[in-house]
Amino acid sequence: MAERILSRDEIPVTCEGDVVTVRRRAQAVAHERGLGTFAVAAVTTAASELARNIIAHASDGAVIIEAVARDGRNGVRMVFRDKGPGIADLSRALAGGFSTAKSLGLGLSGSKRLVDEFHVDTAPGAGTVVTVVKWARY
Ligand SMILES: Nc1ncnc2c1ncn2[C@@H]1O[C@H](COP(=O)(O)OP(=O)(O)OP(=O)(O)O)[C@@H](O)[C@H]1O
Ligand SMILES: [Mg+2]
Repeated sequence: MAERILSRDEIPVTCEGDVVTVRRRAQAVAHERGLGTFAVAAVTTAASELARNIIAHASDGAVIIEAVARDGRNGVRMVFRDKGPGIADLSRALAGGFSTAKSLGLGLSGSKRLVDEFHVDTAPGAGTVVTVVKWARY
């Protein structure tokens, strides 16, 4: 069955305050789509980690938050994109515990574990696009 997009918000991310906006919007959409308490928390956490990565590693970018329906299931899709330096070694960055910012290096790997679909499109010098989807369980 085709996928339907029920709502779509695009939020520019240039400062820490924008990360809060992304986090709040992600939480609201997940709640509206009928995701359970744990799933809402998972979406909220992934939203703030991935938006924070834009600030920390690329300086600015944008996040798209969509309410989606596929095969009778409701979900939330979020796309985090920037035109920053890109990720040179993606498998290392996804393994966890690796950081170019002297941080814990758990944002990317932790976010991956929290969602149902996770995809990174990146190349050195070409920026980064992280797409995640979380589905409601019935
Ligand atoms: N949007 C991005 N652009 C460029 N590099 C990125 C981006 N997101 C992640 N990375 C790279 O992947 C590494 C791992 O990201 P991850 O979020 O797991 O850790 P971190 O941001 O360094 O630390 P933290 O645990 O505080 O999130 C980063 O250190 C950085 O090198
Ligand atoms: Mg991070």
